[in-house]
Amino acid sequence: MGNEESTVVDDSTRPSVLEARNMEAVAKYIQQHDVKRIVVMVGAGISTSAGIPDFRSPDTGLYANLAFLDLEEPEDVFDISFFRENPKPFYALAKELYPGRYRPTVAHSFIKLLYDKGLLLKHFTQNIDCLERQAGLSGDKIVEAHGSFATQRCIECKTPYPDEEMQKKVHHGEVPHCLVPQCNGLVKPDIVFFGEALPESFFRSRDLPEQADLCIVMGTSLSVQPFASLPSFCREGVPRVLINMQRVGGLGSRPDDVLLLGDCDVGVRKFAKAMGWEEELEALWEQTNPDPKAREAENAPLQSRDERLRDEVDRLTEDIERTLGLTDAYQQRVRERLGEPSKQGQSNGVDSGAGEESTGLDHVFPHLARKFR
Ligand code: APR
Repeated sequence: MGNEESTVVDDSTRPSVLEARNMEAVAKYIQQHDVKRIVVMVGAGISTSAGIPDFRSPDTGLYANLAFLDLEEPEDVFDISFFRENPKPFYALAKELYPGRYRPTVAHSFIKLLYDKGLLLKHFTQNIDCLERQAGLSGDKIVEAHGSFATQRCIECKTPYPDEEMQKKVHHGEVPHCLVPQCNGLVKPDIVFFGEALPESFFRSRDLPEQADLCIVMGTSLSVQPFASLPSFCREGVPRVLINMQRVGGLGSRPDDVLLLGDCDVGVRKFAKAMGWEEELEALWEQTNPDPKAREAENAPLQSRDERLRDEVDRLTEDIERTLGLTDAYQQRVRERLGEPSKQGQSNGVDSGAGEESTGLDHVFPHLARKFR
């Protein structure tokens, strides 16, 4: 059980539907109004306790730790034009983020519990980790607004790429290319990169929050549009519960908003307790335990979440450095094979695609080459 307490922020504004701006009043509202159409909107914060770093947390977030790559913007790793120039950093990350290595969190099981109770209208996620599916949520209830690793295709001819091939490539940190001979384009998972359109399923479901009788927002900074607008589509008078480390978006501005600031797993356990669902939630989460023997290990002194996250982020950055290192060694071999002078200050003649000779890692981050010329 998480030891951090989550605090309910009781703003001064009197609620118009709830008796009070707290979890107990939300539980009462659910029971008294026969609530059946809950929309849930989540981000990376519901997966951090599984060991997957989020993006913007100051120390452990992915973007804070990719800064060492000296990218113009850490988000470049998920930018489609950057990916076209150099897919290596993304595939170094993909190896670590690829589904199958992580267990769903209590927050994922809480969403599954809402589904099992017939209360879930739709679950909107920005996450690409497929942990909602792994927690047993049925695909027709999920809108993966930023896509996911579930499928992949060529970015040029859009030909789908076989799953097992993709798993092999990602596992070996290799960049997959289209199997259509005359194409050979780069293959990318169906994740929405910056500069790409969101999937049809998002726009088809975007009017559902208006039909909701309760909205739960969890583990997101609500900093990326159009996803960030979803909570505002709920009708006035429909309670909105935010379970997040800090206040985000416009949440808290409406009289029936309830802010449960703190850890997601602690917050959903508080929600379940107010509803009398504690046992069901723990039992559901237990079912996600991949290895029964691990149960004993569960009692072993756990690393703190930050320690686990720190390890995960260290592993991520080592992986990328290794990929870059491989690039260096690879270049050295190519120079030797071509009988070229070694790299000390000499151009290695590898064209960064910018029409100039490049040195060092330029072909890994060609746009940096231009910047540092
Ligand atoms: N409990 C509660 N809140 C948490 C936890 C936790 N265990 N861990 C992180 N958070 C909070 C953070 O404080 C932050 O407010 O979750 C939020 C995560 O925000 P981001 O890192 O910005 O992640 P997200 O909102 O999912 O990002 C949206 O940005 O880069 C793009 O496509 C990417 O889908 C992603 C989008």
